[in-house]
Amino acid sequence: MPAFTATAPGKIILFGEHAVVYGEPAIAVPVQALQARAVINAVLSGKSGEIQIEAPDISLAADLKDLDIDHPLRVAVTEVAGENKLDLVPACRIRITSTIPLSSGLGSSAAISSALIRALSAFLGVQMTDEEVSQAAFEVETIHHGTPSGIDNNVVTFRRPVYYQKGNPMEFLSIQTPFHILIAGSGFPGNTRKAVSTVRESWLTEPERYQKIFSEIGNITRRARELISAGDPRELGPLMDQNHSLLQDLGVSTTRLDHLVQTARNAGALGAKLSGGGLGGHLIALVDDEVEAVRENLLEEGADSVFLTAVESSPPLSQAE
Ligand code: MEV
Repeated sequence: MPAFTATAPGKIILFGEHAVVYGEPAIAVPVQALQARAVINAVLSGKSGEIQIEAPDISLAADLKDLDIDHPLRVAVTEVAGENKLDLVPACRIRITSTIPLSSGLGSSAAISSALIRALSAFLGVQMTDEEVSQAAFEVETIHHGTPSGIDNNVVTFRRPVYYQKGNPMEFLSIQTPFHILIAGSGFPGNTRKAVSTVRESWLTEPERYQKIFSEIGNITRRARELISAGDPRELGPLMDQNHSLLQDLGVSTTRLDHLVQTARNAGALGAKLSGGGLGGHLIALVDDEVEAVRENLLEEGADSVFLTAVESSPPLSQAE
């Protein structure tokens, strides 16, 4: 019997993280160089419901039933089974691997869920649409992040640049003029769950002040979408700088992220900001001819990884391999 394999990419948020949780729009793009992969093999000698799961990146090798009931991998399997009205999944072995760093702001949890849900639906012989895969991944995201906006599960499942606003139909962005982003690791893990809950506490304490920051971020994101549609990406740089400063106001940046963002700008980046939940994790810098100078300076100043990604309209890919 063949193996059932599915993948999902990492992501970066170009504009609008955190504000998107409060109903403002955000723009996210897939990072195809980073991938989560789920491979499922039937165990013909096993009984239905016997599912072995291994994820060497987190040193996990267990029977699914021995994981906590709210373990994200277990919830992902339960979601697919429930969606397809199956009491028991046929015996199988699931292997999860990922090149997306964990706790990085690069969408690792959403990508793992999405790849697993897609591979499992293929293994079960049921067709799940992208919307259904994304919705099931969203349910798993609620365990990771508490109150996710839904942007991560959508961008990694649809694998295309998205303009996302809760409650509105999702828009795929067509990138008129492709541009380049350097993605740099701050050397410290991020913590999206904590960042999201810290922002929520601040918003509950000072609703007017925080609402104002969210709507300013929303305006930046709307302007960014116009520039992307007009094929004017260089102008995104100053908007990234403004977005970073508002993320500082939200309290989700760190001294190290601020330093690296400033380093990127000083070395010639057109703009830079943290990306994702923050409190560590990654920053992104819009670059043109000065890629090498920005990369070198970031590494000298403590970034633990720097790599280049192109932002372009990606055609939808086939669902499972
Ligand atoms: C995390 O990638 C983005 C946040 O806005 C959380 C969310 O949208 O669910 C911080």
